[in-house]
Amino acid sequence: MRLPEYISNVGEAAEEIRKRVKSLPDLAIILGTGLDKLADIIQVDESIPYASIPHFPQSTVSSHAGELVFGTVESRPVIAMRGRMHLYEGYSAWEVTFPIRVLSELGVRTLIVSNACGGMNPDYRAGDLMLIADHINLMGHNPLEGANNDEWGPRFPDMSDPYTSSLRELTHVVAAESGVSIHEGVYLAVVGPNLETRAEYRMLRRMGGDVVGMSTVPEVLVANHMDMSVLAISVITDECFPDVLQPVSLEDVLAAAAKASPPLIELLRNLIPRI
Ligand code: HPA
Repeated sequence: MRLPEYISNVGEAAEEIRKRVKSLPDLAIILGTGLDKLADIIQVDESIPYASIPHFPQSTVSSHAGELVFGTVESRPVIAMRGRMHLYEGYSAWEVTFPIRVLSELGVRTLIVSNACGGMNPDYRAGDLMLIADHINLMGHNPLEGANNDEWGPRFPDMSDPYTSSLRELTHVVAAESGVSIHEGVYLAVVGPNLETRAEYRMLRRMGGDVVGMSTVPEVLVANHMDMSVLAISVITDECFPDVLQPVSLEDVLAAAAKASPPLIELLRNLIPRI
């Protein structure tokens, strides 16, 4: 697709949403794989299925619901994306990040991202949480490829603080107050959909990744391009230790994400009203 058409599709999607909601929060949260339970802390005002928004991509993964929820968390207005798109579904990086362009158009200034990932740092265990401090993009795709819309952001966006440091500091404070322990580390992104081989985990760990996953980086790149503040939290769903690697199924990933949900929910319930 060419840029003018993409820009006009983003505008049409934003226009449709604007018509259907009473107010537009400036904070959005993406609920990742197995983390749909986070929607429980949202007092819902309106829900809009992705299917009813023009040009909006559909999530093809059954573990993802596929709707935009408008509401509040402890009185703080938020928009939640229940379900996201992934490159491994066959979507282009532009399609995966279409919702982020639309959210920005609607006035969102802060993006909270959650995801499921594999833990490579030997200090991490399945069920632990990790605040993303930085990332390594090994997806082989970039949503900023192609012609640049200067109205959205610069051709060569700076990446010296892609995960807003003030939000990370606040998260550590709120986590301590909430009795929730959370690591901080580097998210390494691959396209998937297969999990990695032992040799790949060994390589990815040496490259500097604490965890590995198949999402988040495209959305974070676009959020940075559009000058949003970003906070991202990973749930470690499986342990990727090459010498003792165990087989992992989607069911295992979903079960581990469900187990890690309560502390993450507690953290977000206390954090969101302070953003
Ligand atoms: N690798 C990549 N992505 C993942 C993993 C993994 O081990 N676990 C959950 N998402």
